[in-house]
Amino acid sequence: MVEAVQDAGVVVTGAGGGIGAALARRFAAGGARVVVNDLDADRARAVADEIGGIAVPGDAAATVTEAREALGGTVDVYCANAGVGSAGSEAADAAVWALAWDVNVMAHVRAAHELIPDWLERGSGRFVSTVSAAGLLTMIGAAPYSVTKHGAYAFAEWLSLTYRHRGIKVHAICPQGVRTDMLAATGSAGDLVLQPTAIEPQDVADALFKGIEEDRFLILPHPEVAEYYRARAVEPDRWLHGMNRLQRQWEEATAR
Ligand SMILES: NC(=O)c1ccc[n+]([C@@H]2O[C@H](COP(=O)([O-])OP(=O)(O)OC[C@H]3O[C@@H](n4cnc5c(N)ncnc54)[C@H](O)[C@@H]3O)[C@@H](O)[C@H]2O)c1
Repeated sequence: MVEAVQDAGVVVTGAGGGIGAALARRFAAGGARVVVNDLDADRARAVADEIGGIAVPGDAAATVTEAREALGGTVDVYCANAGVGSAGSEAADAAVWALAWDVNVMAHVRAAHELIPDWLERGSGRFVSTVSAAGLLTMIGAAPYSVTKHGAYAFAEWLSLTYRHRGIKVHAICPQGVRTDMLAATGSAGDLVLQPTAIEPQDVADALFKGIEEDRFLILPHPEVAEYYRARAVEPDRWLHGMNRLQRQWEEATAR
């Protein structure tokens, strides 16, 4: 049992399925009051009904006011989890880049903008960002996703260093493959890079709860990511060479 969670008012965006639903279930099991948000209203309601939570369907970027009211005035934990996969290169449509920025980065910024003043006044609050290992490393074949997940990680890091002495906790969850609809939609690149080590959504929730207990910012459900992140920082060309080898394997597999 994580004490910080008992009776807490928790919001999870994109919680109609996948990792978000697993986070919502885990918080509810820990005794929290959970707002389940998703663009897909039916899926949000189904998860809310299952866990005794409150459905607040709609765009994640506009959840805070309604969620706060639903929780009786206070959000204790906000999980910025909704995300879009956004494959493609520099040639991806401008609309694909714009949606990736909006959902993967700006929704986090807007939520924090609404939450932080209250959290500073109370001297407590917890912001959980579902980033991705792509935010520390990269994802083959997915430039908009890789770039915006780096943005999400940078924002979570910035929040943490700016407000940690004022009672605000921040966690950045950075998994590789997780068996969800999003992974299934990554196609051949996901099959090559992510499927072999894919984990279940509840493994991600377990990793977050361990991280909350241990008061850690960086949550790595795949621990080996720490070593890849180190290698990228220390020997960038060697790391890029290894990633390019994967790129070429992918090109051969898909006859690009
Ligand atoms: N599955 C993976 O391999 C993996 C790995 C690393 C990180 N992630 C991240 O985990 C998060 C959750 O993804 P998932 O794998 O559970 O995918 P998923 O497709 O199962 O769930 C994503 C949910 O977000 C909802 N959503 C999308 N845009 C929204 C918006 N603007 N407002 C509200 N809801 C919205 C979708 O309807 C969907 O139910 C994402 O941020 C994703 O980038 C996933």
